[in-house]
Amino acid sequence: MPETTRDPAQLRALAQTVARDAGALLREGLGRVRAAVDTKSSSTDMVTEMDRAAEALIVARLLGARPDDGVLGEEGTDEAGTSGVRWVVDPLDGTTNYLYGLPGFAVSIGAEVDGTVVAGVVYDVVRDELFAATLGGGASRNDHAIGVSEITELPMALIATGFSYDAQRRRRQALALVQVLPHVRDVRRFGAAAVDLCSVACGRVDGYYEKGLAPWDLAAGGLIAAEAGAVVTDFSGRPPADGAVLAAAPGIAEALRALVAGAGAADA
Ligand code: IPD
Ligand code: CA
Ligand code: CA
Repeated sequence: MPETTRDPAQLRALAQTVARDAGALLREGLGRVRAAVDTKSSSTDMVTEMDRAAEALIVARLLGARPDDGVLGEEGTDEAGTSGVRWVVDPLDGTTNYLYGLPGFAVSIGAEVDGTVVAGVVYDVVRDELFAATLGGGASRNDHAIGVSEITELPMALIATGFSYDAQRRRRQALALVQVLPHVRDVRRFGAAAVDLCSVACGRVDGYYEKGLAPWDLAAGGLIAAEAGAVVTDFSGRPPADGAVLAAAPGIAEALRALVAGAGAADA
């Protein structure tokens, strides 16, 4: 019998199994993938054969178990479905890391019910860390509850960010960063938005902001950060929109938001 439940815990359980299997596939290919097979939005926006293979595995597994669901995937999957459940998938977040044999890439799977993300899983393959959350049910890493840092001083905060593949947008993002950097402890650019959001969730960094994200970058990690206690907004304090997200520990969230907004990051 095909599965039809909309229970967030069951959706999370399926996503966990599928994300681990896709992660195993990516691990096998690590170091063997030397060349990108294609570019997407710009000459530096790579897609490898492994991005596509991981998405194919994920879609086959999700729809094999739940044929009436929809799926949106970065590598081209766009199935509407009829169940009200839609999976939002980045099969390989951090492709540039992957291509260079660097750690910090992940599989990201979010589950929406009637347009609201109710379950999310991010699997950091090299660290073998599986982050998961359900709406209202808290967030975990390898089945242990996690929470954001207790920081209250922005100058002491370690902040992650990321850059677009588009050269002009990167220039604007760099100019905004010039105004952010003097006011925080330091800045990190790890290379995978989903991992950045989970890093806020477990207190490895105190905040994260980026403009230009796609739904698959944000779906799972945004829920995980929020369920771990982060304030998750756009740069004006409203829910994330137009690919702009700021996730931060509550003790610095408003100060970071004001700093990022004042630096012009919203126009980047
Ligand atoms: C990218 C990564 C990166 C972020 C970019 C994303 P991809 O996703 O998450 O950290 O800065 O905005 O597009 O292309 O590696 O899946
Ligand atoms: Ca991505
Ligand atoms: Ca990707």
